[in-house]
Amino acid sequence: MKIAIHQNHDVFNHSTSWDNEWISYCIKNKIEYSVVNCFDNDILKILKNFDVLLWHFNNYSLQEMQYARSILYSASEIGLRVFPDFNTSWHFDDKVAETLLLKSIEAPIPKTWTFFTYSSAIEFFKNRCNFPVVVKLKCGSGSNNVKLLNNENQAKLYAKKMFRNGLKSSPSLLFKVKSNIQSSKNWSTLIRRFYRIPDFIETFRNANKFSKEKGYVYIQEFIPNNGYDLKVVVVGEKLSFLAREVRKGDFRASGGGSINYNKEYLTEEIRKISFELSEKLGFQSMGYDFVIDKRDNCPKIVEISYGFSFTAQMELGGHWDKEGIWREESFNAPDEILKNLIEKNIKKGEA
Ligand SMILES: Nc1ncnc2c1ncn2[C@@H]1O[C@H](COP(=O)(O)OP(=O)(O)O)[C@@H](O)[C@H]1O
Ligand SMILES: [Mg+2]
Repeated sequence: MKIAIHQNHDVFNHSTSWDNEWISYCIKNKIEYSVVNCFDNDILKILKNFDVLLWHFNNYSLQEMQYARSILYSASEIGLRVFPDFNTSWHFDDKVAETLLLKSIEAPIPKTWTFFTYSSAIEFFKNRCNFPVVVKLKCGSGSNNVKLLNNENQAKLYAKKMFRNGLKSSPSLLFKVKSNIQSSKNWSTLIRRFYRIPDFIETFRNANKFSKEKGYVYIQEFIPNNGYDLKVVVVGEKLSFLAREVRKGDFRASGGGSINYNKEYLTEEIRKISFELSEKLGFQSMGYDFVIDKRDNCPKIVEISYGFSFTAQMELGGHWDKEGIWREESFNAPDEILKNLIEKNIKKGEA
């Protein structure tokens, strides 16, 4: 068994990187591995010597978003087990695609509309829209590209931008730093976050290479909620979560930095939905963002993403299994993903 791990030093090296975790796991468990560069022109030839390819590709890297999935899929065609695979990643960082996929299996999501012409968007805003509504660019994270529209005038302006010049999808450093300062409960947190600023700057520099988003409007009904969203993570038979409070005077939680692990938030229904979706859709790893509708207490998924902060999930201090039993054993997503791939590879060899 030989594992290939993509680690691109030039483009990205986040402090919470999954690649480093995979490398440590291989060293600890005496598994043969090599770091590979998937942008190498001969990558498919190189990969023929391996059984597994791992690449935690990132939504803020233009090159990774352009090429990672093609290379991963081609590697699986030549017989490697890959992470993330096609089912897990084809919709990554594309909320329009995620919505279609989730609608196709009638998953619980907010009412959602996507329009591809200016006139159809305007007709909707004029005749059929109950303001406020949430509009999102299809890409991005940390709430950067998510907005509330309160009335038809704001909606018209937004539609005009989306069908003329477009909107930049790169995250705002100011928004990130402001969110971090506001949500820091003590000096030590603030100082720890301060040391991550170079990471953010590097991220934002890369994200600036993307062209503007335009040519569509993506709208969700606004779900009134109790001021938090949940990031629920499923890898194989294990599930963990964290809750994020919305920013002060805002409706958006993700990227705000105010996290808690109140287990009362994570109902059996939410766990069941998450496990069921991951199984039906064949996800190797998935993070589900839920908000709870205060009108009827129903959980709604606002977006999904195969990548997330695995260290923040580990701070929960345990996980649930598929039978709904809580286990006091932190669950490390990258390790678990690799373990599952190796197990499958062994089974494939035996078959
Ligand atoms: N339809 C919605 N109704 C109410 N709040 C929402 C809705 N969609 C998103 N939010 C809030 O906005 C935040 C960001 O939205 P999300 O779709 O998760 O985008 P991002 O990819 O930036 O995390 C969420 O964490 C949630 O708090
Ligand atoms: Mg989110």
